[in-house]
Amino acid sequence: MADMNKPLAGAALAGIAAVAVWTGVSAQSTAPLIVEVAEPRLSEAAAEGKTLFDTNCAACHGASGSGSDQGPPLIHRIYVSSHHGDMSFYMAVRQGTPAHHWSFGDMPAQPQVSPGDIPAIILYIREVQAENGIR
Ligand code: HEC
Repeated sequence: MADMNKPLAGAALAGIAAVAVWTGVSAQSTAPLIVEVAEPRLSEAAAEGKTLFDTNCAACHGASGSGSDQGPPLIHRIYVSSHHGDMSFYMAVRQGTPAHHWSFGDMPAQPQVSPGDIPAIILYIREVQAENGIR
């Protein structure tokens, strides 16, 4: 009986491994990650967002959202709009976000960014994501 269970257990483990690979988008990552980012020609609104991003976000999320040793790249498949919709960006800026995908620590709220400026920042990130094949 025990022998018969072994292959089953193996199959179950393989299944778990497959799920872990598939859900890799939400796995904890330990090392800082800096990605190469190409910026597209930005729309006018996104260009405004870039200025806001450079002032308020780039210190942690890197130039063009490429990541730094303080925060993750936002030009990354886990931040695609279907996984991190615009509301999650809005909430991150307003309330901060506890460390959950990475090991950088918590993101503090950014109260110096006015709520009305957040859509332009999001638009900027979405345009750069699209240029880099993240959609
Ligand atoms: C002091 C550093 C710091 C600053 C400044 C900062 N962030 Fe973050 N941010 C982080 C860290 C660290 C995380 C990753 C948290 C995790 O998932 O482990 C993060 C995560 C995020 C997320 C993902 C939220 C989620 O739901 O998983 C978004 C979106 C985001 N930041 C947007 C921004 C924007 C836009 C700005 C500028 C207005 C900004 N951040 C400024 C450190 C920062």
